[in-house]
Amino acid sequence: MECRAASLVLAMLGTGVSADFDPEAYPRHETCALCHGLFGTSHIGKFPNLGAQDPTYLTQQLQSFIAGERTNDGGQMASVVLELQPGDLEQVVEWFSTQDPPEPATVPDTSAGAALYDNLGCGGCHDNVSDMPGVPYITAQKAQYLSKQMSDFSSGDRQARNGFDHQSILMVTEDEMEALSLFLSAEPRK
Ligand code: HEC
Ligand code: HEC
Repeated sequence: MECRAASLVLAMLGTGVSADFDPEAYPRHETCALCHGLFGTSHIGKFPNLGAQDPTYLTQQLQSFIAGERTNDGGQMASVVLELQPGDLEQVVEWFSTQDPPEPATVPDTSAGAALYDNLGCGGCHDNVSDMPGVPYITAQKAQYLSKQMSDFSSGDRQARNGFDHQSILMVTEDEMEALSLFLSAEPRK
């Protein structure tokens, strides 16, 4: 019985799917899910979490990828964002920015990174995202992604938007970037 019911369902799906499949009918954020997760929590350290990220920041970074101003992703984002149709950008930003924030990672000892974060005054901007357009949340973000962004800023591979000089804020060693990243990845999003 069960077998017959299952094959009936399969047969129905079979005809329905082939007749109705229309890729344009799927929401655009599903094309981002492969790398960033459907709800904006990525499962691979080099792909950033997008869930609950600030919408202005998301919009600005997508515009930078589209304009070819942000290229430190090795071209992966460019190949995706150039396919976006009018209206898609707003749709994906709305989707990801309104998801739950990602869960923080578990890190045994974050004290070195916490001290650096305070001493270097990172919180002056990154703890006040809602008051500062273009500043991202960096808590509960992938540590590997954060480390790479910090070295990309300090080497000049990534330029902040609007001529903002993030390079000079990150005059720290690779080990210190690592400690900062581990601390931030384990901090809950506030
Ligand atoms: C094939 C994998 C892949 C797909 C698909 C993809 N991305 Fe990305 N995305 C990346 C990589 C890689 C980076 C940047 C990594 C880096 O800078 O080192 C990135 C970075 C980003 C960033 C910057 C995040 C930050 O914190 O600065 C945003 C925003 C983003 N992606 C949005 C999207 C959206 C929206 C889509 C779907 C339209 C999408 N991505 C599809 C791989 C992908
Ligand atoms: C004066 C404000 C300010 C201060 C202070 C500051 N940042 Fe930033 N940070 C920004 C802005 C603005 C951006 C987005 C840059 C862009 O346009 O690409 C950013 C981006 C980042 C990113 C990339 C996030 C992502 O999702 O790609 C990291 C990582 C980061 N900052 C770490 C730090 C650390 C660590 C400190 C302290 C050493 C710090 N920042 C201090 C303003 C600041």
